[in-house]
Amino acid sequence: MAETIEMDDRTIAIGKNHKLFDVERIRADFPILHQRIHGKPLAYLDNAATSQKPKVVIDAISHYYQAQNANIHRGVYYLSEVATQAYEQARECVRSFLNAASTEEIIFTRGATEGINLVAHSYGRRFIQQGDEVIITTMDHHSNIVPWQILCEEKGAQLRVVPIDDHGELMMDEYASLLSAKTKLVAFGHISNSLGTINPIEKIIQMAHQVGAVVVVDGAQAAPHTPIDVQALDVDFYAFSGHKVFGPTGIGALYGKEKWLDAMPPYQGGGDMIKSVTLEKTIYNDLPYKFEAGTPHISGGIAMAKALDYVGQIGYPQIEAYENDLLNCATEALQKVDGLRIVGTAQHKASVVSFVLESVHPHDVGTILDREGIAIRTGHHCTQPVMDRFHIPATSRASFAFYNTKEEIDRLVEALHKVVRMFQ
Ligand code: ALA
Repeated sequence: MAETIEMDDRTIAIGKNHKLFDVERIRADFPILHQRIHGKPLAYLDNAATSQKPKVVIDAISHYYQAQNANIHRGVYYLSEVATQAYEQARECVRSFLNAASTEEIIFTRGATEGINLVAHSYGRRFIQQGDEVIITTMDHHSNIVPWQILCEEKGAQLRVVPIDDHGELMMDEYASLLSAKTKLVAFGHISNSLGTINPIEKIIQMAHQVGAVVVVDGAQAAPHTPIDVQALDVDFYAFSGHKVFGPTGIGALYGKEKWLDAMPPYQGGGDMIKSVTLEKTIYNDLPYKFEAGTPHISGGIAMAKALDYVGQIGYPQIEAYENDLLNCATEALQKVDGLRIVGTAQHKASVVSFVLESVHPHDVGTILDREGIAIRTGHHCTQPVMDRFHIPATSRASFAFYNTKEEIDRLVEALHKVVRMFQ
């Protein structure tokens, strides 16, 4: 974690070189933030659901349709070559973002959900057998539970689950005791969307590899908050979504080690994933195109790359330090609200705070906050097993990005005091 020196509420100096983090300058890049909702300035605190987009991302989509639109990998004409080049440059940008060894290991998907489903269908169908075991965790998003349930049911494999403790941390001893020669695959979220827990990813991967299991990481919540280095992690598959990391919806990427991708059958059949087709036999295309059937979300890929560049320019050390500051500030202030209990108190957390208010349903909290211009998420956050673990139906969740401010946290806390007074 970078050293932070506070200068004022809005400008902090981070790291040895004291690079300035000027939140107002950053906010100026996000047009959507400068509007009033129900007559109040918008405080957008639902970044774990989706992030807002800087102007460079919005402009990239518009520029693509105004100047570059053509189908890729198909045309010999100028526009098609321009579009193909821009899309393949975007792939290189994703490769660099994840520090993958080669662009052949980067598959464009619709998002993390599709990335995980791709591995479950393609790797799972080929390599998971009856009697094998697949390990997931209680804190996983439904998108990292259901695909493995489907696979295990189909194959007669066993799904094992690592439990979580009262703080929302994985019980690593339990994980160790679940691992055996039968474990063929371990799939888990890098960061929990409903609890904010940052999982000990290196250790989980290392332990899985010791028993010969492959590891799939759901990085949807990690990509906006922390740097990812798939080679240093030695992870087998890593999936993330563009829209969580300031890019468009409907686009994401899956990293897979080349040796696995080579050995896996295609996920879907169609155009672009073939070298040749006869009615008798199809020869599949090389990586990564073997996994990219049909016309892709071309503008999405190009704009997602702009988002990744944008994040890179701000810098993860700066983002982590600033968001950690927001998290500490919110945690401290929220604990002073009467009857409020934070759900998810792990030692290492991203800037996500889930909470319940005594005798007030989260949906009521969310609706009242909305009238104050404050957007938070309420519900089970696609993590019903987490809600079951804490014996609650739902939480309210505030999740912060680097464009959020301490003033917005003050407004959130003030609005919650108001909710408490209304229900007294
Ligand atoms: N998975 C997203 C969330 O946490 C939608 O809100």
